[in-house]
Order: sequence, then C-alpha cells, then structure tokens
Amino acid sequence: MVIKFTINGDEMEVDVKPNETLLDVLRNKLFVTGPKEGCGNGECGACTVIYNGKPMNSCLILAPEADGAEIFTVEGLTKDGKLHPIQEAFIEENAFQCGFCTPGFLMSAKALLERNPNPSKEEIVEALSGNLCRCTGYDTIIKAVKKAAEKMGARS
Ligand code: FES
Ligand code: FES
Repeated sequence: MVIKFTINGDEMEVDVKPNETLLDVLRNKLFVTGPKEGCGNGECGACTVIYNGKPMNSCLILAPEADGAEIFTVEGLTKDGKLHPIQEAFIEENAFQCGFCTPGFLMSAKALLERNPNPSKEEIVEALSGNLCRCTGYDTIIKAVKKAAEKMGARS
C-alpha cells in the first residue's frame, strides 16, 4: 500500500508492505539513517523518532500505521548548517562515544524539552529511561540535557 507522512516537515509518499516497520522504511526506502536498529524489539531506544509529538520506537511501528503521521528524526535538528542546542550540549558535555545511541537520545531529549522546558534531573532520567547506551556514562548525557534546557531557555 502507498502511505503518506511528513518527515522533518517534508511530505513523503512511499509504497510499503504490511509487515514492514517504520524503521525499515525510513532507513532502507527513504535513506533516513539517523534512527538506528539496535535490538529491533523495543528495548534499546536507538530507533527513537518523534512520532506525532511523542518519542516512539520506530522498530515497533508497522509502516502502514504511519499513514498520515508527522515524524521527526535527528536529520531535522540541524538548521541552515547550524547545530541544534541539544546537539551542541551533547558535544560540550562529551555525552557520546561511539554515537550509535545518540540519535535516539537526542529525540527523547527534544520531546522532553518541548513539553517541559526546565526538567529536573529525575524528570530527565525518566524521559531517557527507554534509551540505552553501552559506552558513555549516563551522567554526561543527563548533564547535556540539562545544559540544552539552559541554552534553549536563554535563546527563547
Ligand atoms: S531498535 Fe528499536 S528499540 Fe531497539
Ligand atoms: S555512545 Fe556508544 S552506545 Fe551510546
């Protein structure tokens, strides 16, 4: 079936199979490769996208379900060649090593800061609880999200 959705504000139309996941369609048909495939079964958060305003594991969404959805991926963060404050904060706080998990963390962090511009440490931990990282300490990731909140507050 042919489905339509928007990705980072651009309208897309794509032919999908009933059993394909949104993650597969993004990566293999649209070459939107920011969302990563880690576990493939909803446990690691590497495939997180913002789906109709909420962070969701795209490996758990069947592509036909995404008809009409608004999808945001890490590719949409950079504007006019300028990094988003969340990206800047992750770099400044050394909040990644291999980077495989980072697009998912950035999406969960963005969704959090959109609904709660000044989250507590506990709220950040809760919002990132579905994202796993195997090589960076979570402390630096939490600090980066706090710093991103400050930067975004300062710029608004
Ligand atoms: S690849 Fe989707 S949660 Fe791990
Ligand atoms: S930076 Fe390597 S898994 Fe998180």
